[in-house]
Amino acid sequence: MEKEWWKEAVVYQVYPRSFQDSNNDGIGDLKGIIQRLPYLAKLGIDVLWLSPIYQSPNDDNGYDISDYQQILPEFGTMADFDELLRVAHQHKLKVMMDLVVNHTSDEHAWFQESKKGIDNPYRDFYIWRDPKEGQPPNNWGSEFGGSAWEFDEETNQYYLHIFSKKQPDLNWENPRVREAIYAMMRWWLDKGVDGFRMDVINLISKDKSYPDDPLIKAGKRTTSLAMVANGTKVNEYLKEMNQEVLSRYPVITVGETPEVTIEDALAYAGFESKELQMVFQFDHADIENKEDGFGKWNADRFDLIELKKILSKWQTGLSNKAWNSLYWNNHDRPRVVSRFGNDSPAFRKLSAKMLATVLHFMQGTPYIYQGEEIGMTNVSFETIENYRDIDTLNAFQEYVLEKETLSAEQMLTYIHHSSRDNARTPMQWSTDLHAGFTQGEPWLEVNSNYKDINVDEALKDPNSIFYYYQKIIQLRKEYPIITYGDYQVIDLNDPKVFVYSRNYNGETVFVICNFTAETVERNDHLPVEKTLLLSNYGDDDANNIRPYEAKVYLFTK
Ligand code: GLC
Ligand code: CA
Repeated sequence: MEKEWWKEAVVYQVYPRSFQDSNNDGIGDLKGIIQRLPYLAKLGIDVLWLSPIYQSPNDDNGYDISDYQQILPEFGTMADFDELLRVAHQHKLKVMMDLVVNHTSDEHAWFQESKKGIDNPYRDFYIWRDPKEGQPPNNWGSEFGGSAWEFDEETNQYYLHIFSKKQPDLNWENPRVREAIYAMMRWWLDKGVDGFRMDVINLISKDKSYPDDPLIKAGKRTTSLAMVANGTKVNEYLKEMNQEVLSRYPVITVGETPEVTIEDALAYAGFESKELQMVFQFDHADIENKEDGFGKWNADRFDLIELKKILSKWQTGLSNKAWNSLYWNNHDRPRVVSRFGNDSPAFRKLSAKMLATVLHFMQGTPYIYQGEEIGMTNVSFETIENYRDIDTLNAFQEYVLEKETLSAEQMLTYIHHSSRDNARTPMQWSTDLHAGFTQGEPWLEVNSNYKDINVDEALKDPNSIFYYYQKIIQLRKEYPIITYGDYQVIDLNDPKVFVYSRNYNGETVFVICNFTAETVERNDHLPVEKTLLLSNYGDDDANNIRPYEAKVYLFTK
């Protein structure tokens, strides 16, 4: 297998709004990120992925872009961005931008023109359709609730929006759209950015017949994202993007690709595909999703065997053919220590380290989401008024207030479990007011546990989760087997432990992780001569695998 720098890299995602506020307006900003670059360098990461920092009315916190080549004033100026890039590079950190090109904001100049009239030269930049018997063109549901079509009274047509109605989908069939996007991408790359994380990039090719969604009809789901995922021309477009832009720069690329199968992933990110380097698959991230009208809105605990099956399927399915991205968290997901671990005081640190071990010793490029490295947890705000996320607010509106299919109390329980705001509460830096994130009023309240869980505390404690992550990153640099070794799962059907091995050039790395609060006995008949590379207890109790214990051995066969 070919060695590549991006296979050996560790990526850290910053959600700028919630990372560090430098001017006390309650909103994180670029200057705040610059202040914290030494912290990220200390952790040892290689690439910084910035969630969108572009001009935006913030209907979806920046994932609704109104100008791709301007910085959102709340975040700073282009000069601040240039400074961020310069200082990041000084620290040997690469910068990966979020590329949101399935849709724009409805306030983007292209859409402003587009909606002016059927003959406007920008009309075809978006997807407009005539009404069908006075109704929307089909029954598709938007990701954020309601129909995926919005009616425009002026021109008597509907436009498609897979996300909010302020996020109209671009028409990738139009070569002018594609050229404009490629030009914009080159502009950022010429500025010196090092790559792109591509937002819902596999939704860009739509079936032009716009068929009804049978599962919506059957009441089995409310959103039709699956109807537009992995469309017939998406690989053609990505190959073109690669040829026109990506292949000309030494970039790192990852596509966010909901509804993706192994087969699809091989097409997007196969070593020979000439499209993307990696994709984010959703199988494990959607593990508790239900096939009823509520989708992700539930409070169910995941099943470990299921999780092992999913991750192992991706490890073996891409082996030697494509490259995995490894992630537990991002700005759209609940916090992993609360979700797959145990965030009670007794087990939070142990289980956060255990989860880090499971993920980072697999084959692929690991992604850390801000706060994961100090074990930040989910938040349980008392009322819906505390929430800011459009997805959460719309779901509450729909199920509690409009359809009355869930009580407010029930929905809040689900929100505590699944809301995207779990990931978006401000970064917890210290025991100061608002966790040191801001001295103003934070745009979203800080999690009240910040007095115990914060960066200051983590940096003072040699046994902290932070230093454990730092150690893992160092090990990855020291031992190529962690990057390049083959993966083999062991005892797939054991409901308590996750055990696997990695093999490379006659060496084995053996990983044992306990997902329960009980001691589990097991004997893996490992050679007597072996090194304990890493352990979250700091020692080894042989065949007793203690609560949430993680240990990693290295030996020669
Ligand atoms: C992606 C982003 C999410 C956003 C959506 C629409 O899934 O990660 O935050 O709401 O795309 O852009
Ligand atoms: Ca600010």
